[in-house]
Amino acid sequence: MPELELVDATTESSTKTRYYVRFTREQRYMHAVLFTTFLGLAATGLPMRFSQSFWARELAAGVGGFGAILFLHKFFAIVLTIAFLIHVKEVLERGLVNREKGIFWGSTSMVPNWNDAKAMVGHMRWFLGLGPKPQFERYAYWEKFDYWAVFWGMIVIGFSGYAMWFAPFFAHFLPGWALNAVLVIHSEEALLAVLFIFSIHFVNTHLRPDSFPMDMVIFTGVESDHEFKEKRPLEYARNLKTGDLEKKTGIAPPLWLVNFSKVVGYTAIFIGLTLLVLTLIGYFD
Ligand code: HEM
Repeated sequence: MPELELVDATTESSTKTRYYVRFTREQRYMHAVLFTTFLGLAATGLPMRFSQSFWARELAAGVGGFGAILFLHKFFAIVLTIAFLIHVKEVLERGLVNREKGIFWGSTSMVPNWNDAKAMVGHMRWFLGLGPKPQFERYAYWEKFDYWAVFWGMIVIGFSGYAMWFAPFFAHFLPGWALNAVLVIHSEEALLAVLFIFSIHFVNTHLRPDSFPMDMVIFTGVESDHEFKEKRPLEYARNLKTGDLEKKTGIAPPLWLVNFSKVVGYTAIFIGLTLLVLTLIGYFD
């Protein structure tokens, strides 16, 4: 792929760093609800799964027993379900009612396309030193994978969770063996989600060289022109060409927001990694 010629946005009027909006306030709030409820569900689901482990018994004793743990699990589940339904409603509204372009297909869509397959192969070749670094659009292939993993996980984990919760109701439609199977499905899919988010998602998003030690954009909503050009040169070039770049101009995140984001981000990563270690202890105990 030929190298893109990018005009340096900083040269026009000043040498000050320019910032561009990547995520709206609503998207950042949605991510905040998603990761706090996910952490809450993992922190309450894992002790139930590994209830024989010393740490699960200690944790349960600390919050008032396994009954309290299940109560908290259900509370987080309701909040996450509401957030998920709001998200689905918004996507459908933007795509079907407002007929916004680029929701279901194209360079700004979350739906994977042929270019993602090519970028993934190119990335593997680059990892092996067999080709140049591929250039990415608004969402890279692994970001789409993360999105759909959560989407799919919500449907499978959510449905199986509610089937356990309201088993007498679901027994009207599901055979007995299916009601037993939902526990296995819920448990295994949740374990997969925990392992995936707390290892691959953390590494992909925060620990790769161009984001290390943490990518702040999901907290602050903005990224510098340097980051924008480095990480998503195809999106930058497209916006430059269509004249949309100016519309994306944002302001530098205030210091309190950067510091707050760091505290929240590192706390989430710390809880996630702790849960990952406890999961491994529980698994091999
Ligand atoms: C809408 C979402 C969810 C609902 C409605 C839900 C509901 C439930 C219910 C009712 C139980 C059964 C507890 C019992 O009576 O034994 C359970 C167990 C569990 N949940 Fe969830 N849950 C949800 C999401 C999650 C998520 C996102 C995770 C992981 C991050 C998770 C992890 C677990 C685990 C590990 C167990 C224990 C399963 C076992 O005993 O092997 N859940 N959940």
